[in-house]
Amino acid sequence: MKNIEETSAIIPVAGIGTRLRPHTHTWPKVLLTVGDKPILGHILDEVKNVGIKRVYLIIGHFGEKIKKYVATYYPELKVEYILQKEQKGLGHAVWMAKDYVRGPLMVLLGDTIISADLKKFLFSQDNAIALKEVEDPKRFGVAVVKNGYVARLVEKPEKPLSNLAVVGIYTFKKSEILFKSLEKLKLSGRMTKGEMQLTDALEIMIRSGHKIKPIMIEGWHDCGKKETIIETNKYILKRKKLSARVKGVLVQNPVYIAKSARIKNSIIGPYTSVGEHVQIEDSIITDSIINQGAVIHNMNLDKSLIGPDAVLKGRVEHVNIGENSEIKFEN
Ligand code: G1P
Repeated sequence: MKNIEETSAIIPVAGIGTRLRPHTHTWPKVLLTVGDKPILGHILDEVKNVGIKRVYLIIGHFGEKIKKYVATYYPELKVEYILQKEQKGLGHAVWMAKDYVRGPLMVLLGDTIISADLKKFLFSQDNAIALKEVEDPKRFGVAVVKNGYVARLVEKPEKPLSNLAVVGIYTFKKSEILFKSLEKLKLSGRMTKGEMQLTDALEIMIRSGHKIKPIMIEGWHDCGKKETIIETNKYILKRKKLSARVKGVLVQNPVYIAKSARIKNSIIGPYTSVGEHVQIEDSIITDSIINQGAVIHNMNLDKSLIGPDAVLKGRVEHVNIGENSEIKFEN
């Protein structure tokens, strides 16, 4: 469809993922596995399936790893990389693409997995943003809706005026108008929470009379910290009904086990993802994500997030225990 083919997608992936340390010390957050692929893979699948052809990835210090992943798994997408050297906020990341992008634009945040119909956004007559009712709106951009349009937007307010959070999909009929608002924001020097915010640029757009339509979505899955990435992993494995069979291994579905993983004498699952080239021996692993290349021996893991190439080797106890004795192996 012409409208969609003309649309560009900007995906900012330079964020340093402080809440996911230590993993993000050495690895870009968007390449952490959730379900059967990295976070970025899920987002690119959505973009590809809806028919968008041009993608701009705003990359940071792990840009090379991201380029390698995209080239290997998404050769059919036309992807341009724009390097954001300094982390000056989401508004700044999108502003970096101003010399490349023209016409209709979709911005998708690189740290969340969304199951929503992107066509609703692309076919909307107006600019649109995704909103979701949340219990604690303080950690999000917050929207006030009046007469069917967004009337105000505030980034991470102390006293939220609503519980409608901005959750990571934005579409613009004319990207030029967004870039103009970002330019104004940049010139004004205004920062919120120390960063140049996309939310503040949208507020400028609204004040200049441009309409933004709210689109409510349900399926929004945070991957921002260990607890939420494990939850999202479980959700994806269940939704996709992923399963695996490995000879000599007791697998409790749903699980994802990469073909190149080598597992011996273990119990895997439920709700566990095992990445490429992982080696597991004599272990029990439930509700966990084992990223590529990790080695795990003699471990009993639950709700764990194991980074790429990490090595985790436990002890095998040979116990000879008498009547009325007690030994406890504490966590
Ligand atoms: C960003 C946006 C915020 C939005 C959030 C959604 O914040 O600035 O408006 O609500 O993403 O995840 P960040 O999570 O990057 O601090």
